[in-house]
Amino acid sequence: MNQADTLEKIMTRTSAAHYGSDRQGTPPRVMAVTSGKGGVGKTNIVTNLAYSLARKGKKVLVLDADLNLANVDVLLGLTPKFNLHHVLLGEKRLRDILVTAPGGFQILPASSGIMELAELSEEQKLFFLSEISALGNSIDIMLIDTAAGINNNVIYFTLAAQEKIIVLTPEPTSLTDAYAMIKVLSTLHDVKRFRILINSAHTEKEALAVFRQLTLVADRFLGSLSLDYLGFIPYDIKLPQSVRAQRLVVELSPRSTVSGKFFQLADHLIQEKPDTQMDGNIKFFWKDLFKL
Ligand SMILES: Nc1ncnc2c1ncn2[C@@H]1O[C@H](COP(=O)(O)OP(=O)(O)OP(=O)(O)O)[C@@H](O)[C@H]1O
Ligand SMILES: [Mg+2]
Repeated sequence: MNQADTLEKIMTRTSAAHYGSDRQGTPPRVMAVTSGKGGVGKTNIVTNLAYSLARKGKKVLVLDADLNLANVDVLLGLTPKFNLHHVLLGEKRLRDILVTAPGGFQILPASSGIMELAELSEEQKLFFLSEISALGNSIDIMLIDTAAGINNNVIYFTLAAQEKIIVLTPEPTSLTDAYAMIKVLSTLHDVKRFRILINSAHTEKEALAVFRQLTLVADRFLGSLSLDYLGFIPYDIKLPQSVRAQRLVVELSPRSTVSGKFFQLADHLIQEKPDTQMDGNIKFFWKDLFKL
């Protein structure tokens, strides 16, 4: 039996064990937040959205896939003692390295450990998958915060997630970088569907104009892609103020305009009908990571 067959068997077994062999349970949704350009608000979007979803009763796991900078920890003023590397060394269980953030969502500090996944032996993969399987049982949504730029690491995580959220702001450089990211994912990796979230717009009109510009150029040069407008997060001075305080704006200023938008976005994501094209599953995410 080759490696792919063995992995397939493990996946089927773990999947059946947790969601029922008839797949009646709801598998966790896995969404990657990416942008091409750095500094457009990915980490703030992931963490504030995670908080908002958790407050609405969802069990949320944030994967900090910014391997070098550990953005999520810094933003929240947390210093995790252990990360995925310790799990892969067999020193810790996966559940022991999770950090609980304000609002009750969980953070999986990945550090450089994530790059070791591809190198694991079958036995180690089996152990890791059983750990993930146990975790998957207690998660509704996994949000992945990717790093800045369009490098292999960013592509790796974005491809493995079922829902790809591209964040851009009204700055022209953000538009060109988001376009470059979409171009790489669609032309080299055959991704056809993207969800577009505009950040730091002053009005919805401005956000829609940015979205329109992106769709125009994508339609013209990339052919038939599906770019869905997920919404916009307004520019709000309360957000940088909360960053400086190492707090989440949704917690520090829940009545601000920007917080209202995060709550609204969380509601939207919870209420939308499951889309078969976006059938997220946490174990398929890890399986894809192994394959990549
Ligand atoms: N909606 C907003 N309103 C006002 N300021 C914002 C908004 N979103 C982001 N910012 C500002 O942009 C900064 C960068 O945000 P963030 O760290 O979330 O970006 P990022 O995309 O994760 O960056 P990197 O690519 O470096 O990881 C924030 O610290 C904040 O000052
Ligand atoms: Mg970041």
